[in-house]
Amino acid sequence: MEEGDLPQVLPIERSSFPTPWTAKAFLQEMTPPSFSFVSVQEGERVLGYVVFRLILEEVHILNLAVAPPWRRQGVGRELLRFCVDFCWRRGGILFSLEVREGNLPAIGLYRKMGFALRGRRPGYYRDTGEDALLMELYLGGQIRAPHGPGRG
Ligand SMILES: CC(C)(COP(=O)(O)OP(=O)(O)OC[C@H]1O[C@@H](n2cnc3c(N)ncnc32)[C@H](O)[C@@H]1OP(=O)(O)O)[C@@H](O)C(=O)NCCC(=O)NCCS
Repeated sequence: MEEGDLPQVLPIERSSFPTPWTAKAFLQEMTPPSFSFVSVQEGERVLGYVVFRLILEEVHILNLAVAPPWRRQGVGRELLRFCVDFCWRRGGILFSLEVREGNLPAIGLYRKMGFALRGRRPGYYRDTGEDALLMELYLGGQIRAPHGPGRG
């Protein structure tokens, strides 16, 4: 994401969240260890975006949204896949995020991508008082000896 994307990103943000990020918030997350990427159609139209922070092996997903007319067409999944692949190549293995407990589309997407429920933060969202669910995806330890340790 670049500053020039913000005129398209901000309306998506405002149509997606009760307390939307400001331009300043996006600008603050445009430099490492934060990364932000947009999904674009024909090199111009922004369909959605993902923002995350990668510190050593830990990744925290800070923001993810798809423009309402483009939802349920695989854009969110592609953005998340891109994020996981990007971070995995750079050593990221533990992905975490908070999601409103009532946000069933997002929870459905995260579950489909392999995220599991790891906890709950009561009253985390001050605007509505809603709880946050903490979800994680752990990619470490996927290569195991087939018969456990201690063989040969
Ligand atoms: C959550 C969000 C990013 C999903 O993006 P999307 O492009 O619509 O998602 P996809 O089309 O890639 O869907 C992937 C999977 O997520 C789940 N999903 C997505 N939308 C869903 C919905 N409305 N209801 C139930 N499950 C849903 C499904 O499992 C879906 O797979 P399927 O289409 O094969 O059934 C989008 O709804 C959005 O921008 N919401 C507002 C912002 C937001 O809540 N962001 C997340 C903050 S934590």
